[in-house]
Amino acid sequence: MKHLLKLSDLTAEEILSILNLADQLKYERKNGVPHPYLKGKHLGMIFQKSSTRTRVSFEVGMDELGGQALFLSDRDLQIGRGEPIQDTVRVLSRYLDGIMIRTFKQEDVEALAKYGSIPVINGLTDYCHPCQVLADLMTIREYKGSLKGLKLCFVGDGNNMANSLIVGCIKMGMRVAIACPDAYRPDADVVAWARENGELLVTSDVLAAAAGADVLYTDVWASMGQEGEKKVREAAFKGYCIDEKVLAAADREAMVLHCLPAHRGEEITAEVFEAHAAEIFDEAENRLHAQKAVLVKLLK
Ligand code: CP
Ligand code: NVA
Repeated sequence: MKHLLKLSDLTAEEILSILNLADQLKYERKNGVPHPYLKGKHLGMIFQKSSTRTRVSFEVGMDELGGQALFLSDRDLQIGRGEPIQDTVRVLSRYLDGIMIRTFKQEDVEALAKYGSIPVINGLTDYCHPCQVLADLMTIREYKGSLKGLKLCFVGDGNNMANSLIVGCIKMGMRVAIACPDAYRPDADVVAWARENGELLVTSDVLAAAAGADVLYTDVWASMGQEGEKKVREAAFKGYCIDEKVLAAADREAMVLHCLPAHRGEEITAEVFEAHAAEIFDEAENRLHAQKAVLVKLLK
């Protein structure tokens, strides 16, 4: 494993090995065992979109591993003034040991890996969000004991989260159901891959998708960069919400996850969110542990 660009690049064994190391690092942190595996290493973090969790968890994660993280906003970088990303990465490769990038186009992340000579981590694109799903899988395994055979139901937009959940869950032997309006299905290449490699249902029927699910998952109706479509999306996604009825269709022991930030009253009701806050904030915490595992695998 040289980069983390998207989950489809990883084998099931590689994902499992990240999850196991994440569990170990979480245990060590809880018990005050230092783990400075990345002493003297520097991670550059390029942000072309906002972030709370990704920025803070990578920054704290590098610090806890004995290294250092540099926050690089495109408002300050020459990228914002038109310097090609291929040039930026060739320069950064001379200073840094790794790059995390949050941006719009998946091609830009792939270009960093192609032109640079250091590991690249995808911190979210319009296409996928692999770091989030590693933390999600870690959280599901913590609560359920294992992953194989479980059913995850995602309700909402067939967006970057849906794409990565489909790939990550199917690689781990889970079944996936996506409930979304017809015009907002996950990317066609992801759906085609899933159909060949596992069990995927894509339907506009929320209750059918939720039937018997072990994990219910949702995300915002309008992602970063889609602010202008807010009104259209509010109309299109009406009813694509994890509420009491959806919960009742799922398994009695179903857990509810949300990558955050959440919009109560849109993709999830305030009641369901608060009833499952323990899981949702464990999930957010696990971003730290899962990403530290990725950093150790790539930068050590
Ligand atoms: N879930 C997630 O990636 O959160 P941020 O946008 O706050 O980083
Ligand atoms: N789909 C959301 C995820 C945020 C973590 C977005 O891209 O804005």
